[in-house]
Amino acid sequence: MDNQASNAEAPHSEATFFTGVARELAERISSKQAIIGIAGLGYVGLPLAVEFAGRGFRTIGIDLDPERVRRVAAGDPSIEGTSGEVLSRVVREGMVEVCTDFSRAGEADIVFICVPTPVTTAKNPEMTYIESAACALAEHLRKGQLIVLKSTTYPGTTEELVQPLLEQQGKGAGVADGFVAGRDYFLAFSPERIDPGNSQFATANTPVVVGGVTRTCTQLAVLAMKQVCEQVHPVSSPRVAEMEKLLENIFRSVNIALLNELAQLCDRMGDISVWEVVEAAATKPFGFMPFFPGPGLGGHCIPVDPYYLSWLARRHDFETAFITLSARINETMPHYVVEAVMRAIARQPVRLSDARVLVLGVAFKRDVSDTRHSPALRIMELLSRRGVTHLAYSDPHVPELDVPGAGFRLASVALTEEALRSFDVAVIVTDHSAFPYADIAEHTRCIVDTRNALKNIVCDREKIMLLGGGDL
Ligand SMILES: NC(=O)c1ccc[n+]([C@@H]2O[C@H](COP(=O)([O-])OP(=O)(O)OC[C@H]3O[C@@H](n4cnc5c(N)ncnc54)[C@H](O)[C@@H]3O)[C@@H](O)[C@H]2O)c1
Repeated sequence: MDNQASNAEAPHSEATFFTGVARELAERISSKQAIIGIAGLGYVGLPLAVEFAGRGFRTIGIDLDPERVRRVAAGDPSIEGTSGEVLSRVVREGMVEVCTDFSRAGEADIVFICVPTPVTTAKNPEMTYIESAACALAEHLRKGQLIVLKSTTYPGTTEELVQPLLEQQGKGAGVADGFVAGRDYFLAFSPERIDPGNSQFATANTPVVVGGVTRTCTQLAVLAMKQVCEQVHPVSSPRVAEMEKLLENIFRSVNIALLNELAQLCDRMGDISVWEVVEAAATKPFGFMPFFPGPGLGGHCIPVDPYYLSWLARRHDFETAFITLSARINETMPHYVVEAVMRAIARQPVRLSDARVLVLGVAFKRDVSDTRHSPALRIMELLSRRGVTHLAYSDPHVPELDVPGAGFRLASVALTEEALRSFDVAVIVTDHSAFPYADIAEHTRCIVDTRNALKNIVCDREKIMLLGGGDL
């Protein structure tokens, strides 16, 4: 095994650095002979599979969900996060094979674990997906394989959870003292930075961080990631890489919370728009980065990942005050928006029970269809609990929606003039680019705008109640 301390240092050259099975794997990667395995074909795993396949690597995708496998195998163009055309092509050419069978992992030289890492109802890490994937991989682990965990998780997961599962549960075939990371197989953590809906940054031009259990593990994972990413940044351990990913997401959560608090203060003061303040502050070319308020956090990552660190901190007798405070502020935002909608209804000549409310945008962010943890779901649930019975939504990316907290299912409303005129209040929760904002402003009686989506509308401003604009 190699030296952990010098883990992040670059080798003199790939050929001279690697020996034994590591060298064989490095050669297979460099010559594109390496077979890639991806466990978990979701928002993270599928684009990665397509990226490797597109670069000439035979790729095997494994997912426990047979329906997901069926859709990927059919090159379903409605799958988000990857172009349907490219997906169909790599599937048709046989560069991506998909299955539910973990025994196929034994064929792969490199396996990326891209399974979910949600939180439990008590907001503790839900590790069963990683555990189950690691146990299934252990059964088929073979000499010379590289395993890379990509799921966002708490520092220590790769070495304290995944490594023992691979080594204790694995067969360690042909090795008397079992498999040892860095000698028989290789293990690293490399967090995912994919930003669904971002047309500027994709896998190739988004730098990626890699931390291996040993120096050889790091360098093999760097070599693997270099096949699909222009810039790879090695760090000294998986723990650093795990913590780095959490820092990225906590950084966003904390800064958004700061702006959400400031937005509420501006509303209280009534004569300052937080949006104008941020725009002005952003003219500073150094030391400031613009963040914006909104109706609350959504998506798979930002509302969830900070809890992984606060859970770990508690195990070290430490309280992560920033995380707790920002979560508290961000989680109150849907309530704040609902209060604004209630005031908007009260201004109309309509009883609450007769009021017709339209939610514009239910995906968790602009121009995507992902509704996981979307603040729109919470807002609709809260409105329904407050007695709004005529509730509808419109979202060009989400044709149908279950609102679990309210127990109903709705279909997206088409934004015709007649439809817009039929609502008493519209609330803009997600600022999709496809929305006809001028029509919305013209034909809707009252609009609660939580995203400053109507910033370019000059007429009809009196109808608009802007979050952080002094109106809510
Ligand atoms: N979605 C994002 O934008 C994003 C960005 C960065 C990081 N991440 C992180 O990446 C990880 C995956 O997220 P995602 O959004 O791709 O999740 P997802 O829910 O879209 O996909 C996960 C897939 O894994 C499959 N799966 C579950 N258990 C499995 C198992 N044991 N073996 C094989 N497949 C299994 C599921 O069926 C599903 O298809 C999470 O840790 C997440 O926090 C996500």
